[in-house]
Amino acid sequence: MKKYLVGDAFNLIKELPDESIDLILTSPPYWGLRTYGQEHNWATLRAWEKEKPRWESPSYKWYREHGGVLGLEPLPDWFISHLVEFFELSKPKLKAGGSLWVNLGDTYFARWSSIRDAGRQGLGSDIRTRRTTPMGRYLQEKQLLLIPSRFAIAMQEAKWILRNDLIWSKPNIPPGPKRDRLRLSHEHFFHFVKKPKEGRAAYYYDVDEAEADLDVVICNVRPGQNGHSATFPREIIAPRISSSCPEFGTMLDPFCGSGASVEAAASLGRNAIGFEIVEKFLPRETRYATG
Ligand SMILES: C[S@@+](CC[C@H](N)C(=O)[O-])C[C@H]1O[C@@H](n2cnc3c(N)ncnc32)[C@H](O)[C@@H]1O
Repeated sequence: MKKYLVGDAFNLIKELPDESIDLILTSPPYWGLRTYGQEHNWATLRAWEKEKPRWESPSYKWYREHGGVLGLEPLPDWFISHLVEFFELSKPKLKAGGSLWVNLGDTYFARWSSIRDAGRQGLGSDIRTRRTTPMGRYLQEKQLLLIPSRFAIAMQEAKWILRNDLIWSKPNIPPGPKRDRLRLSHEHFFHFVKKPKEGRAAYYYDVDEAEADLDVVICNVRPGQNGHSATFPREIIAPRISSSCPEFGTMLDPFCGSGASVEAAASLGRNAIGFEIVEKFLPRETRYATG
């Protein structure tokens, strides 16, 4: 079974039966990098500050109702809070012995930045939005924000058990203009499991299906598919699926983009469900609108 649903993952997740998913494997939008062509209200911070202090994060519901798009939050803290909120919604859908793999990359802070449909640093010709990000606390020029680490710690605080911080090393990333630091050439793949009511976490895992028993994987990035600029290479996700989802089990990718994970899972004999808010990214022959 392979199924794609078009819509906001925060709504679609509620429609799944509890304890129905063996593996959630996903790469949500990264903070402040891409618009994915969605309409976004750049004034959500101003609206929120009329109600609450900026460092208190609004719920995703409030943010969405005020025109905010996931990944374009004015502060990284809001973004992390929305991601954790989503994975808390997904927790009851995951079986007790299930796994959650989340791929996230980091970002440098810049008070002024350009965001494009396909990426912040992109030199492409796609539409570009200039934006300012408020400074304060750790938000300082040139700062590596450690967003993946902040996210992982926030998930631990929400009682997820972190089993691995797999480093995806990307040796072929394009050269950048910076001469005062090394190039950012890795991303994280966090493996979380559910904390049981009692005792130690027990979950499905077959380490022989991973590439090796080491937590660094070298894998080149590839040009995107279906007009999507951030597609998963199969080599990085197939071992995660085979090791963390039993055969005939069900994998969910709630931010599935071009559907690379759904296609990989289906080809490996797993059931697969993909959610995506921008319909045009999905494989053409499998686009089903839910309304
Ligand atoms: C990093 S990309 C995922 C790419 C995917 N791994 C692939 O291989 O193509 C994140 C995706 O999440 C989608 N997205 C953003 N907000 C969403 C939401 N609230 N619900 C569902 N999908 C969303 C974006 O449109 C984008 O395609």
